Amino acid sequence: MKNVLVTGGAGYIGSHACKALALAGYTPVTFDNLITGWRDAVKFGPFEQGDLLDRARLDEVFAKYKPVAVMHFAALSQVGESMTDPAKYWRNNVMGSLNLIEAATDADCRHFVFSSTCATYGDQDNVVLDENSVQLPINAYGASKRAIEDMLVDFAASAGLQHVIFRYFNVAGADPEGEVGEFHQPETHLIPLMLDAIDGKRDALTIFGTDYDTPDGTCIRDYVHVCDLVDAHVLGLKWLEEGRGNRVFNLGTGSGFSVREVINHSREVTNRDVPFNEGARRPGDCTKLVSGSRRAVSELGWEPQRSNLNQMIADAWRWHQNGHYSA
Ligand code: UFG
Repeated sequence: MKNVLVTGGAGYIGSHACKALALAGYTPVTFDNLITGWRDAVKFGPFEQGDLLDRARLDEVFAKYKPVAVMHFAALSQVGESMTDPAKYWRNNVMGSLNLIEAATDADCRHFVFSSTCATYGDQDNVVLDENSVQLPINAYGASKRAIEDMLVDFAASAGLQHVIFRYFNVAGADPEGEVGEFHQPETHLIPLMLDAIDGKRDALTIFGTDYDTPDGTCIRDYVHVCDLVDAHVLGLKWLEEGRGNRVFNLGTGSGFSVREVINHSREVTNRDVPFNEGARRPGDCTKLVSGSRRAVSELGWEPQRSNLNQMIADAWRWHQNGHYSA
């Protein structure tokens, strides 16, 4: 069996990745500090609690499992928070990743799959966002991820670390079998907040800004199903194993939906009212983020199966009603 070190394997995307890796014949080894992750979400391989800022702990885990690759999901990822507490993002995301990358190369583990984000592109009105687009992040979260991308490029040159970088658009949905799902504490993402508002678990959803330069005044995002997203990661790992070299891939569908459109689709899928009100813009939000590239489809052979908006909301709704983590 081939061990893959999955940082953030107890989180939303990492836990889905562990399932996909296990199904593909790898052994995912979760490394997570459980600050935003859940012990209950680790279901598909060994668990090692630890923090990326603790280099000695990382060395121990590399020595114990001798992973063939790293999938690096662990990160703080709230755009709004990154604007009010940037130090937290530079310390956790950038310093933590530097420790991890150094520990990996020192342990002779040279395949690295990295979770990056379309937030590295920033706010580029009317520009098709492909992998060669200029990266001008407008929030500290995006800046921290861009810095880690730069780090990977430097370690590729100096230490032969082979990497695949995935720039995610907006990840949504949940495992259709309900084994893992999305659970953030506190929750900040549009779809789970909306589902909470729909079944009365919290107050009405607030739309952050209705005066954007979009057809209905609300922000536009490109939503991609978490199961499709993690399937691309397994393909990325195989890409590295086949020696195909360093590559960046956008992971989005190319279709954008405004906040109001997401609300309308949620009403349709759940057959319930969506209580909402209109509020001010959230600092750090881009007007429109839609992937203009099909590189992952043409080069990796990625075939998204569940990334239509109604399916994503339906899967999230099923998890929302039946699934939860408690520890
Ligand atoms: N939104 C609201 N009300 C809310 C929550 C969100 O109107 O209560 C809006 C946001 O303003 C934004 C859209 O819904 O326009 C989506 O917001 P999310 O918080 O769900 O997602 P973000 O687009 O802010 O961020 C997510 C991930 C980041 C990633 C980014 C790329 O959290 O990690 O997508 O767009 F970088």
